[in-house]
Amino acid sequence: MEPHVASRKILAVAILAALAATAATTASAQQKAAKSTSADVQRGRYLVRITGCNDCHTAGYAMSGGKVDEKLWLTGDKLGWRGPWGTTYPANLRLGAQKLTEDQWVTRARSELRPPMPWFNVRDMSERDVRAIYRYLKQAGPAGEPAPDFVPPDRTPAPPFVQFPAPPPK
Ligand code: HEC
Repeated sequence: MEPHVASRKILAVAILAALAATAATTASAQQKAAKSTSADVQRGRYLVRITGCNDCHTAGYAMSGGKVDEKLWLTGDKLGWRGPWGTTYPANLRLGAQKLTEDQWVTRARSELRPPMPWFNVRDMSERDVRAIYRYLKQAGPAGEPAPDFVPPDRTPAPPFVQFPAPPPK
């Protein structure tokens, strides 16, 4: 073998080895990122179960003792909540999360919303927890239809809806 051919071969092997090493480092970095993300997603999943998001944002969840397929979680509900504020519908959070960045979603979830959405509970959660809920929603992906539109107080919504009494006199 000509000496320069041999050295070219060695060079080629060295380049391949270097590439393989880079690929291995990238793969392990990706694994690390996926690991921390999956911990957030698991935390988000835990939070939506224990803080009641499914109770309203998943059709039939509260009535069935939580026996709703996870594929349908947080896809919103057509059951209206009617009171002095009008009639509100628990939004489809799975679709909503697709349209907003994490920061936009955190701001939205913590801003004042109409009853009976307990926005004040989300406001009081740690930012990390609110982000974990968003990450769970993103990982779950889009599903279902948008919830019906808000109906103002002077208009009667189509059934079904839950009627709240007027607030107690002060
Ligand atoms: C008691 C019922 C109820 C519970 C519990 C509830 N929500 Fe809601 N949520 C609603 C209703 C109703 C709306 C619509 C409010 C409106 O139209 O202003 C809403 C709206 C929202 C919105 C705004 C969506 C948009 O795109 O406009 C977000 C975000 C949200 N809820 C997140 C949550 C999270 C997170 C939890 C759990 C911590 C939760 N909700 C628990 C009833 C509920």
